[in-house]
Amino acid sequence: MKPKILVTGGTGYIGSHTVVELQNSGYEVVIVDNLSNSSADVVDNIEKVSGIRPAFEMVDCLDFNGMNVVFDKHPGIKAIIHFAASKAVGESVEKPLLYYRNNLVSLINVLELMPIHKVEGIVFSSSCTVYGQPDELPVTENAPIKKAESPYGNTKQINEEIVRDTVASGAPISAILLRYFNPIGAHPTALLGELPNGVPQNLIPYLTQTAIGIREQLSVFGDDYDTPDGSCIRDFINVVDLAKAHVIAIDRILENKQNETVEVFNIGTGTGLSVLELIKGFEEATGVKLNYKIVGRRAGDIEKVWANPDLANNVLGWKAVETIEDTLRSAWNWQLKLRERGIQ
Ligand code: NAD
Ligand code: WQD
Repeated sequence: MKPKILVTGGTGYIGSHTVVELQNSGYEVVIVDNLSNSSADVVDNIEKVSGIRPAFEMVDCLDFNGMNVVFDKHPGIKAIIHFAASKAVGESVEKPLLYYRNNLVSLINVLELMPIHKVEGIVFSSSCTVYGQPDELPVTENAPIKKAESPYGNTKQINEEIVRDTVASGAPISAILLRYFNPIGAHPTALLGELPNGVPQNLIPYLTQTAIGIREQLSVFGDDYDTPDGSCIRDFINVVDLAKAHVIAIDRILENKQNETVEVFNIGTGTGLSVLELIKGFEEATGVKLNYKIVGRRAGDIEKVWANPDLANNVLGWKAVETIEDTLRSAWNWQLKLRERGIQ
């Protein structure tokens, strides 16, 4: 058995897939989650997929003492993957303080506790949102950080700075910031996936909910952008591919390849796909016809962004391998499974 890894937000969408991949690689996992955006039965489903039940602590990362107890109860945690955060862009505009408190204080607590418990490194969930609309595409890690479009986006920028300043201060910590592009899809077993809270704001959950009849029609926000078909372009990254990037990042931290520095990696496919191409891809991959219409632009949307993933490919040795067809089919199978389970 490899070392013990703490995964905050481990019952969430990306966290649950990552826990399975860590377990598949031989790591022992402790999950901390306050279940604010996930449910406890995810732990059962992780066990069904990997055959191993992870330790689960229902603790809020805002609770410093509660987190301290987790480290005492599970001695020997060597590294942390910090997923726990609030992530709804629209909600962050309405409730900025909730977002600043949750996303900043949670990280600060974790960083303060790391040296106390001799935790060597942290992998942090950042986002391509830090680039805003990049001046050059595909975007590299050296592209300038643009003013955030939302309090949520701002928390990711500040989080990155908090990590950098902490490591620069001499804290005995290595850090890897992974900037995810647009994670989509679900586990091929359809036992893990994204559980949107209320009306989905993101494209894929809205799309699959429309395809299954929960929503009447998908609105495509704009067809007058400066792109070949006029709709926005994104880099859609399969969630299992994304999860595997975390395992490699943890391997790297524990192999001491970084020596208490901060590294940043884009985690994307390197290919941009438009919203209309994605819809067509979904229809072809699943055979399901989608009811959609073009409407006006959504405020704050980035016109086009996709990753240059060379650094992750070459330095981490990570590469996205899943096809978009399989990824879209996995999202659909997850939606079908949710109906079977009577959830949505
Ligand atoms: P998610 O909401 O499914 O998972 C986050 C988990 O953290 C949830 O289970 C939630 O209950 C938990 N959580 C939130 N606040 C907590 C707290 N204070 N204490 C303990 N647990 C807490 O979201 P996700 O899509 O899996 O995202 C994971 C991370 O990746 C987040 O940091 C998010 O900002 C980041 N990210 C997500 C995307 C995306 O499109 N999904 C893109 C870029 C970055
Ligand atoms: C994708 C495209 C929409 C819904 C957001 C966050 C970002 C990151 C990922 C965490 C856009 C279009 C969407 C719909 C549509 N999260 N769309 N109809 O905006 O790229 O990024 O999630 O860090 O920070 O901002 O993702 O899935 O919302 O939208 O036409 O009903 O789909 O306009 O072009 P986005 P998304």
